[in-house]
Amino acid sequence: MRAYSIAAIPADGIGPEVISAGCEVLKAIEKRAGDLTINVTHFDWGSDYYKKNGVMMPEDGLKQLQPFDAIYFGAVGAPDVPDHITLWGLRLPICQGFDQYANVRPTKILPGITPPLRNCKPGDLDWVIVRENSEGEYSGNGGRAHRGLPEEVGTEVAIFTRVGVTRIMRYAFQIAQSRPRKFLTVVTKSNAQRHGMVMWDEIAAEVAAEFPDVEWDKMLVDAMTVRMTLKPESLDTIVATNLHADILSDLAGALAGSLGVAPTANIDPQRRFPSMFEPIHGSAFDITGKGIANPIASFWTASMLLDHLGEKEAAARLMSAVERVTKAGVLTPDIGGTATTAEVTSSVIDAIYSSN
Ligand code: NAI
Ligand code: MG
Repeated sequence: MRAYSIAAIPADGIGPEVISAGCEVLKAIEKRAGDLTINVTHFDWGSDYYKKNGVMMPEDGLKQLQPFDAIYFGAVGAPDVPDHITLWGLRLPICQGFDQYANVRPTKILPGITPPLRNCKPGDLDWVIVRENSEGEYSGNGGRAHRGLPEEVGTEVAIFTRVGVTRIMRYAFQIAQSRPRKFLTVVTKSNAQRHGMVMWDEIAAEVAAEFPDVEWDKMLVDAMTVRMTLKPESLDTIVATNLHADILSDLAGALAGSLGVAPTANIDPQRRFPSMFEPIHGSAFDITGKGIANPIASFWTASMLLDHLGEKEAAARLMSAVERVTKAGVLTPDIGGTATTAEVTSSVIDAIYSSN
């Protein structure tokens, strides 16, 4: 019997709805496997916790999470708490504190989902975006002076380090190498930003020499939005900075049909700390409590979690159950269906039990 301990942090808005659906699905995976135990411990951190305690998580939050094999995260964001407090109070301290420097975002068009691009066939869009997740534009470096006065200044300084860029580049080349096409696109803005971004390009070329079997090319981020939209089949693995990949992966999610299907993994490739798995979307307060949140992103990220733990068979079984359900047309309203979160969840559970 292989046993894993998972820390679930559903947090805000639809987070608890999709994470509880995901936990039901993980329970089914556990029962179906027979030789696997998945113990989930819930943490009530988030905006409600903040309103009671003045912090998004306790001071020793990271210490409490450290012993777990992985973290299963919902979303943060509440209408009555500023976004920089919810984000910097919970999600970013976990990513940065646990040095989860690789943010991996697969996108593909699942069977049964009609993508917004007229000529895009399912196999045409099958990407993995690798986002630098520890520094860059979201390093938190900057400040405000002369607040409220006419001469007020605010700075937000992007930090790129040789260590940080080299390790994400190497990780991205490894992912590209593991995929059939062995093709990586390196995204920067090295025409307008002539320091850190030029260093990215230089380090990309250095790391590329370690991977002679991987073909690679370069794109400027603005032109990249055009290529993703008009020539999706020309891309495979993509690496970009924290900010650029944040934006490009929302576009990727939309091109695949909905943010509600897009998963992400915040990985510490060295496995010193637990990695964190979450849907890309936020707390979606416009649909909170309506029972229609799409749980597919949280199922897909649960499959990535299992894969990260070495449970390849369980990971593949979960993903193929999801694909059978989307193919059968059991879809929530964001992808053109009428099913509820609960209906999609029970269909996926049935597909898990009836799988080989
Ligand atoms: P959002 O991702 O929450 O929602 C954008 C749109 O997509 C909304 O119309 C929403 O209804 C829809 N949507 C998102 N997930 C869906 C799902 N699973 N099923 C069906 N429809 C879905 O982004 P928004 O509205 O910009 O932000 C809301 C809050 O979430 C803000 O406070 C923001 O800061 C926070 N946020 C948190 C993130 C995180 O925790 N990782 C990521 C993005 C936003
Ligand atoms: Mg984002």
